[in-house]
Amino acid sequence: MPKSVSFPRIIRKRSRLHGQGVFAAESINKNKRIIDYAGELITNRQSEKREHQYLSKGCIWVFRVNRNWSRDAAVGGNVARFINHSCKPNCWIDVVDKTIWVRAARNIRAGEELTYDYNTEGDKSIRCQCRPNCSTKL
Ligand SMILES: C[S@@+](CC[C@H](N)C(=O)[O-])C[C@H]1O[C@@H](n2cnc3c(N)ncnc32)[C@H](O)[C@@H]1O
Ligand SMILES: [Zn+2]
Repeated sequence: MPKSVSFPRIIRKRSRLHGQGVFAAESINKNKRIIDYAGELITNRQSEKREHQYLSKGCIWVFRVNRNWSRDAAVGGNVARFINHSCKPNCWIDVVDKTIWVRAARNIRAGEELTYDYNTEGDKSIRCQCRPNCSTKL
């Protein structure tokens, strides 16, 4: 019998960083897989047009998977699309084939907001709000 895999409980709610964020609803152990960043699989060529469109509205929804592929969370995305960026994140990204896993970078307490480093490339126009006077642009 295959072992059933369970994921920690997480909830979406208003964030101090930006808009809606995602929070741990229970404690999460370091390296635990929390959720996969779901979204339509598109080529990087297709993604450029969509990214441009989304960025004109101030939002990043497209996640670069590798040299060829991206996932567009605006189409078929799950709650992972609301995870905000931090320059000192508590999650890390583990890409396995074309699945983007969000994993705990350390032990996370219930109630903490989940964040990862967006590692954005190209035109960066969004000022990071992860801490007062953060100079990073997303
Ligand atoms: C994938 S969405 C995250 C969900 C978003 N908070 C919402 O309510 O729609 C990514 C967008 O959130 C905002 N964002 C995420 N992290 C941020 C941060 N540290 N500082 C400022 N804006 C952030 C940016 O506008 C970014 O384009
Ligand atoms: Zn920052």
